[in-house]
Amino acid sequence: MLVAPLVRLLEPRPGDVILDGTVGLGGHAAVLLAQLGATGRYIGLDVDEEMVEAARERLSVVAGPRIELVAANFAEFPAVLKRLSQEQVNHMLLDLGVNTAQLDDPSRGFSIDHDGPLDMRFDRRKTRKAIDLVNAMSERELADLFYEFGQEGASRKIAKRICQIRHASRIRSTHALARAVESVFESGGVVRRGKTHPATRVFQALRVAVNEELSNLRLFLESVVEHLRPGGKLAVISFHSLEDGIVKRFLREAKEAGTMQEVTRRPIVAEPQERRENPRSRSAKMRVARRL
Ligand SMILES: C[S@@+](CC[C@H](N)C(=O)[O-])C[C@H]1O[C@@H](n2cnc3c(N)ncnc32)[C@H](O)[C@@H]1O
Repeated sequence: MLVAPLVRLLEPRPGDVILDGTVGLGGHAAVLLAQLGATGRYIGLDVDEEMVEAARERLSVVAGPRIELVAANFAEFPAVLKRLSQEQVNHMLLDLGVNTAQLDDPSRGFSIDHDGPLDMRFDRRKTRKAIDLVNAMSERELADLFYEFGQEGASRKIAKRICQIRHASRIRSTHALARAVESVFESGGVVRRGKTHPATRVFQALRVAVNEELSNLRLFLESVVEHLRPGGKLAVISFHSLEDGIVKRFLREAKEAGTMQEVTRRPIVAEPQERRENPRSRSAKMRVARRL
């Protein structure tokens, strides 16, 4: 996603070291690696071990620079760099959220479109899943979660309905949860928004909570300045305003502190062709900043 502007704005050069905090299926990695020549280094992290294996397979055919793929949370990247004896890097990249392989696998429970267990963990070593939140949080806690992490206007009504349903039996699957939310919009006089599924925001809120996505992003950003070489760049692609707001605030403070400067006046969005070909790209925003 946003591959062309990413390469243009990061401007990686032969011999550079790139830290990719969300290597996923290695799509960005494959393109960026080509810029690094034989002496560069690409360090790719993903908290999902399956993705690290998929990236390893895909990138094994790319010759050239050294590639290090590590199953790790990007919030812990300083420890990974230390282990690899790489104190600073030239560029850092985060492409937040879920990738298509995770979305399309019903057993991961990320997608409203596929029926599967309510899991939603990126890191399957963690024990807390979406099913635990949906069935154990109080009505008030669920409403606050949907409002805070999903910006869901009907949060109270949805939380109430979930609690009514789970009183009879646990809500176990993605489709059971989607139906519970749909029923609020069908019967409760709540207006449905556009073409998106009415449970989209609830799914987003649960995923953000299960994976502690906002605190991981904040932790990552806290260590960026220390580990980025002067002149090096940070690129963050985000998919909702909660993430983008955190990045925006971080960059504003970094500018005031004289440590980072955004390289474009506005965040980069996908071109019309990419928006047509990949509907997910419509909500993507990329911010790129230079370490001063
Ligand atoms: C949108 S995908 C990245 C796609 C990748 N750029 C590509 O081109 O294939 C986001 C990835 O980030 C991973 N992820 C999410 N949170 C993470 C975290 N805290 N630390 C490391 N990886 C994370 C997910 O497992 C997922 O594979």
